[in-house]
Amino acid sequence: MNLAQYPHLRLRRTRSAAWSRALHRETVLTPADLIWPLFAAEGRGVEEPVASLPGVSRWSVDGIAARAKEAVALGIPCIALFPNTPAGRRSDDGAEALNPDNLICRAVRAVRDACGSDVGILTDVALDPYTSHGQDGLVDDAGYVTNDDTVAVLVDQALNQAAAGADIVAPSDMMDGRVRAIRMALEMNGHPNVQIMAYAAKYASAFYGPFRDAVGSGGLLKGDKKSYQMDPANGEEALREVALDIAEGADSVMVKPGLPYLDIVRRVKERFEVPVFAYQVSGEYALIEAGAAAGVGDREALVLETLTAFKRAGCTGVLSYHAPLAARLLGG
Ligand code: PBG
Repeated sequence: MNLAQYPHLRLRRTRSAAWSRALHRETVLTPADLIWPLFAAEGRGVEEPVASLPGVSRWSVDGIAARAKEAVALGIPCIALFPNTPAGRRSDDGAEALNPDNLICRAVRAVRDACGSDVGILTDVALDPYTSHGQDGLVDDAGYVTNDDTVAVLVDQALNQAAAGADIVAPSDMMDGRVRAIRMALEMNGHPNVQIMAYAAKYASAFYGPFRDAVGSGGLLKGDKKSYQMDPANGEEALREVALDIAEGADSVMVKPGLPYLDIVRRVKERFEVPVFAYQVSGEYALIEAGAAAGVGDREALVLETLTAFKRAGCTGVLSYHAPLAARLLGG
C-alpha cells in the first residue's frame, strides 16, 4: 500500500465532524443484529428478578409472550428461550426435556400465538435445566458425561422443541456428533426448515455463573464441564469444532463466551465464511452492569461499544441480555 505521508495524510481529517464519522463508519450495529435471551418461569403473571443479573427477570409464559412482542416492536428478529424447570421436575436423566408440555414448549407456543412468524424462536438443546446434577448430559457411575447416550436424548429434545414450533434449535451441550444426529432427525420427522445454530466453540468458562442461577442449575452442579466444553487456552481446536459442525449440517455456528473470544470469531469468519454468532454471556452482562454501577463508564456507551465490537470482529449477530436496551438506543 502506498500511503501518503503526514501532513498530506491526516487520519484525523475524516474524524473531525459527526457527519464525516458517520460517512466513514465501517461497522453498523442495528437491532436486527440481536438475539434476546429470555428466562421462563412457571406460573401466571410472574416476574422473578435474577439477583446476579440486575435488570433481567424470569417471566412466566404470558410474560415471555409479552417480551416477544416487545422484541418485534424493537426490531429484534429473534429470541432465545431458557426454562427454570421446577425442582420437582428435574431428574438424573433430564426426562422433562422430552415432555411436550414442558415449560419451554409452552413458552414457544405462547410466543407463536402472540407473534406468529414475526419473531424467530431459538431453543437451547442441552439437559442442564432439566437434570438434578446440573450437567448438560447423562452421567455414568464414574461421574462422566457420556457422549452417545446423551446425543440420543438430545435428538429427542430437539424434535420436541421443533414440534412445539421452535425455528432454530441450538445445541449448547458440546457432545460429539450431535449436529448430524439432530439434522437427520429433523429431516426425517418433517422439520426440514428448522435451523441448527450450533454452539460450536463453547468454552468451559467462568462467565456462566449468573445464567446457572437463572435456570436454577448453579446450586446443583458439582464439579465442572471441562470434559465436554472447550479449554479457554485453545484456538485451533475451535476451528476443528466449527469445521465438524458445518460438515454435520449446522446452518450457523456460535462462539461463546463473547468478548474474550473475539479472536475466535474472526478466525472462524475468515476460514469458513459461514454465519457466525457470538453469545455475550451472563457474566459479561453482569460485569458491564457492575462496572457501570461502580462508575467505571457510561452504561449505554459500554453496551453499544461492546456490541459493535462483536460486529467488527465478524459476527453475523449477537446474543445479548442487553438486546432490548441496545435496540432502544439504536432507535428500534
Ligand atoms: C447450557 C447453557 C449455558 C449457557 C447457555 N446454555 C450454561 C452452561 O453451559 O453451563 C450460558 C449462557 C450465559 O452464561 O449467559 N448448556
